[in-house]
Amino acid sequence: MEDLRQLINASKLDFASCNSLTELDNVKSKYIGKNGPIAEAMKSMSGLSNEEKPKLGAIINEVKKGIEAALSHQKKIIQEDILNKKLNDESVDVTLPGIKRNSGSLHPISLTMRRIETIFHSIGFDLASGPEIEDDYHNFTALNIPESHPARAMHDTFYIDKNHVLRTHTSPVQVRYMKKNKPPLRIISPGRVYRVDSDATHSPMFHQVEGLWIDDSVNFANLKNVVQEFLQQFFEDDSLTIRFRPSFFPFTEPSAEIDMSWNDGWLEIGGCGMVHPEVLNQVNIDTESFQGFAFGLGVERLTMLKFGLNDLRPFFTHDLRFLQQFKV
Ligand code: PHE
Repeated sequence: MEDLRQLINASKLDFASCNSLTELDNVKSKYIGKNGPIAEAMKSMSGLSNEEKPKLGAIINEVKKGIEAALSHQKKIIQEDILNKKLNDESVDVTLPGIKRNSGSLHPISLTMRRIETIFHSIGFDLASGPEIEDDYHNFTALNIPESHPARAMHDTFYIDKNHVLRTHTSPVQVRYMKKNKPPLRIISPGRVYRVDSDATHSPMFHQVEGLWIDDSVNFANLKNVVQEFLQQFFEDDSLTIRFRPSFFPFTEPSAEIDMSWNDGWLEIGGCGMVHPEVLNQVNIDTESFQGFAFGLGVERLTMLKFGLNDLRPFFTHDLRFLQQFKV
């Protein structure tokens, strides 16, 4: 019976040297497993007298409880260790500097287009759009550029098939919009256009913004005012002026190139004019009651001036070192 009592202390020592729950399990079965000393003692009870049986039984119970207490004591210690280690491993040093997230940004051309839309919206212009694959009629004929007109050759057109082109300008949107809407009307239409042309200042795909204002008495002076007002807002420069240089477009009469003042000189930024009566006839607008102007501005040109660039090719080559400079 004394030997049995010794087991409590012996198991305490054994349990205390355990570092993991598996080790703990092994020691546990060593003492209170099927073949352990406690099980042996139980078996030996059958050979005892009726007086001795309860005495040994009591001691076995006492020893078993003692061993189990030692086990659960060590189990707590090990579980606490495991938890502490886990907390340690997962701890966050809140004094470390943060990690910068790389965010995207709008393309400089998109920035300019949005800026253009906002400014013209504030002057009362609606937004219109048309297809980039355009038919010959809208891109040319309806704009008073009949077949065999020399202006067609000037446009360096990409042909899709005999009747379809990649639109060479945004002017076909004028035709589409006037066919669908009755005057008075006032729209701009920014978008992609295409011409067979490629060097430092020309790209086969580029952007224009078309403007159109038709009403009963809209005139050339209004045109000049709207364009100048827009450019002053765009470049945030109230002293910016523009000048019109006589020019020719089949769909406007009279026509002009738009120059704007820039560093003691003049820079061409687009074309404009009073909408040609032949174009108004094409879209069934009564030329006795209505007249108006149209203009087309180069979006790349405006963007290059705004950001001080002299080459437009980086706009379309996707070099992030270039594009990331335009984050706002
Ligand atoms: N569509 C002309 C071009 O691409 C520009 C323009 C638009 C001229 C509207 C006059 C009126 O060159």
